[in-house]
Amino acid sequence: MATSRLLQAPGATITGWGVGLPDNIVTNADLAARLDTSDEWIVERSGIRERRIGGTSGSLAVEAGRAALKDAGVDPASVDLLLLATSTPDQQMPATASFVQDELGLSGGACDVNAACSGFVYALVAGYGMAALGAQRILVIGSDVMSRITDQEDRGTAVLFGDGAGAVVLEATDGAGQLLGWDLGSDGSTRHILYADHRAHTKMDGKEVFRRAVRVMVTSSVRALEAAGVAPADVKLVVPHQANVRIIEAACKRLEIPTERAALVLEHTGNTSAGSIPLALADAADAGRLDDGDIVLVVGFGAGMSWASAVLRWAR
Ligand code: ACO
Repeated sequence: MATSRLLQAPGATITGWGVGLPDNIVTNADLAARLDTSDEWIVERSGIRERRIGGTSGSLAVEAGRAALKDAGVDPASVDLLLLATSTPDQQMPATASFVQDELGLSGGACDVNAACSGFVYALVAGYGMAALGAQRILVIGSDVMSRITDQEDRGTAVLFGDGAGAVVLEATDGAGQLLGWDLGSDGSTRHILYADHRAHTKMDGKEVFRRAVRVMVTSSVRALEAAGVAPADVKLVVPHQANVRIIEAACKRLEIPTERAALVLEHTGNTSAGSIPLALADAADAGRLDDGDIVLVVGFGAGMSWASAVLRWAR
């Protein structure tokens, strides 16, 4: 039976994490000085107060990856696989993962994953899958420099996006590991509501993205929780994609999970696309919000539209 084969496969556990953020902070007041917007509007509509701008997807990924490897105490030369989630690669070709692999001195394979803001969760689930196929140490990074594909004169998008990266180290375990359930999804018929063409800026139908984001966050979370055999009430920490605090609040309300259980960094980072979930996870873990045995729900959505959820039992 497929189920028993899955249960016998090696699992994996997150043993370290790290972040990479540009030094340059751009506040809402900075934006209001040159755009027809205000701190009040941005905070009320999105929850964002400031964002970091600068760097490249590769350089931020290197910073986050290096910190995660150090945190886990893992020798870069012993890493079997790098999965780098990004939709703002430094070059069309090769993958930005090639640069990161070289800079960090990683061994093993390296490739990019593009599922926009859901990319990190896609890569994370794929990482657990690779552990089941025998990989011992996997570096999973989400890194995006959204400022590069955002029209800084467009108040509709410039106020929302920022640059940043987060990384985790996955290590194979003898037992089942910490992944309890997952859900990955895509509805390519809605790809026109959020996109960036080659050498062009991001175009977004904000209201439509908002509406669909809440819906897919809820349905995907429920599917992953059901696969894990876990009730929403048992979730200790939700790590949602950091696009808009109102989207997070609406999704938590529908899931009947108190918003206080959500990890939030978007106030200071804006929407960093694939960087957002590992940034929020690292922040919550560093703040001591996670104990061994806690149930963690990570849930992302983004252009595509794509969505991805995973339910973990925290153990370090
Ligand atoms: N400052 C002031 N006014 C603004 C700004 C701004 N920065 N931006 C838009 N407005 C105006 C609009 O022009 C509009 O004016 P009008 O009524 O005269 O036409 C008014 O404010 C209201 O605009 P709405 O679009 O109705 O505002 P809304 O409450 O929907 O909030 C927002 C807009 C924040 C974009 C919201 O729709 C949203 O967050 N959507 C989801 C975006 C998102 O999550 N994107 C990322 C997805 S993940 C990925 O893959 C990258």
